[in-house]
Amino acid sequence: MKKVGKEVSQVDCIGIFDSGVGGISVLRALVKELPNENFLYYGDSFYAPYGTKTVEEIQKRSVEITEYLLKKGAKAIVVACNSATSAAVNLLRERYPKLPIIGIEPALKPAVCRVTEKYNGEKTGKVMVMATPMTIREEKFKKLLERYKEKTDILCVSCPGLMEYVEKGVTFGDELDGFLMKLLGEYDYKNMDAVVLGCTHYPFLKDALSKFFGEGTEFFDGGEGVAKETRRRLEGIGRLNKENVFGEVVFENSGDPCMIELSQKLLALD
Ligand code: DGL
Repeated sequence: MKKVGKEVSQVDCIGIFDSGVGGISVLRALVKELPNENFLYYGDSFYAPYGTKTVEEIQKRSVEITEYLLKKGAKAIVVACNSATSAAVNLLRERYPKLPIIGIEPALKPAVCRVTEKYNGEKTGKVMVMATPMTIREEKFKKLLERYKEKTDILCVSCPGLMEYVEKGVTFGDELDGFLMKLLGEYDYKNMDAVVLGCTHYPFLKDALSKFFGEGTEFFDGGEGVAKETRRRLEGIGRLNKENVFGEVVFENSGDPCMIELSQKLLALD
């Protein structure tokens, strides 16, 4: 496994992976929820993006990375990537039936609930889902959409090319604004009540995105839900660390060594 980062064996850690640095938005929620746990974060930046690859390619990477994290002592795996969850989480669960494996999906449920509540159950609200082509195209999201599409207006926007900005450490600026303008320009984006950030890279672009949407637009992502589910699953099997243990985070990355520094920077953001 090609990697850069600190070389440690973290017995009893929570293994977490993404196509790159995006999953650090989930890691932030995990560290807050579970401060006594060790985390080993694997960013697969060398193979990024996942969202425009085939299901088979993502399954292969997901299995290889999971194997690697297990060798390093992971007691649970968090798939901190919507694209890898849609392509590979079922396969991982089949392969490792006893291992807690927590995936992520676009936070459509809380967004639709908030919007229908706002309009007292009327179908007048508008929700935009931003995600990778893979997430939007796969069965998992189609099923989710089926459950909520009668409740409010839902617009799905596939965003190839957007995660690359975060991978380069670019979270604001003219180039990004120009890209967003081109991407969102063809939609009635000013009237969104809620925007679902359906790729774990996008929460790092929230400030840049806020400028495009109206003032009342609320953003939703799945990080907190994943953190709570991880706690629940580990509690269920009695594998949560004791409260007197102080957890640490270790980053590894299949890409350039500078990705470790970027990872630490993103984790430290407020
Ligand atoms: N962070 C990933 C997600 O949540 C994917 C970005 C990509 O690799 O295309 O979907």
